[in-house]
Amino acid sequence: MVAARADFLASGAYEPLADELARVCGDADGLVIDAGAGTGYYLARVLEASAASGLALDVSAVALRRAARAHPRLGAAVWNLWEPWPVGDGVASVVLNVFAPRNGPEFHRVLRPGGLLVVAAPAPDHLRELGDLVLAVDERKDERLDATLGEYFARTDRTEVRREVELTPRQVRQAVEMGPAAFHLDRDGRRERLDALHEPQVVTVSFTVSTYRRR
Ligand SMILES: C[S@@+](CC[C@H](N)C(=O)[O-])C[C@H]1O[C@@H](n2cnc3c(N)ncnc32)[C@H](O)[C@@H]1O
Repeated sequence: MVAARADFLASGAYEPLADELARVCGDADGLVIDAGAGTGYYLARVLEASAASGLALDVSAVALRRAARAHPRLGAAVWNLWEPWPVGDGVASVVLNVFAPRNGPEFHRVLRPGGLLVVAAPAPDHLRELGDLVLAVDERKDERLDATLGEYFARTDRTEVRREVELTPRQVRQAVEMGPAAFHLDRDGRRERLDALHEPQVVTVSFTVSTYRRR
């Protein structure tokens, strides 16, 4: 899954999301913590666009080995996000969270007063052309996100990033294999349908980027 994610992201297919995250975090200083950073692709883009340093947290050592090499100002720690994080109170200017578990109390504790929480999530039409080869996104996901974080954060903005991109058959396979749908490929002839793809596919990539301020 990590190799599929790294190769897929390197193709630039999700670059519009990386650009939006870099814009939103634009003048970050101090420390940016990426909670569930994976290979560090998005955190590295945020650091490129700012003077901040970065800390990537993820439970996957395999992913973090890549993250640690993704940018000179990036450090990485293997950590379960549901445990108290290995950082002090109020140390971060930004917490970034891209398609990863959301621990509201820890987001709140580690952010400095006035700090920014940036959450990226897939929108309901993300990869819709791939049908059941990928997991469906809940129509009310953003609503649930605000409710989950509401005790600790007030939402300040939400932007949408939506593009049609052409994916090669190899990229389609990576898009499927890098996410949880990889665990469901043996059902309903999905693997056979994936194997039968030999032409490029135009697909919708669609995300929301939500920003919150600490209450
Ligand atoms: C869908 S991937 C997103 C990775 C990265 N943010 C990206 O978009 O490329 C979800 C990530 O969350 C991590 N993760 C899942 N549960 C976790 C947990 N309890 N603690 C830390 N990381 C976790 C996984 O290892 C994985 O790297």
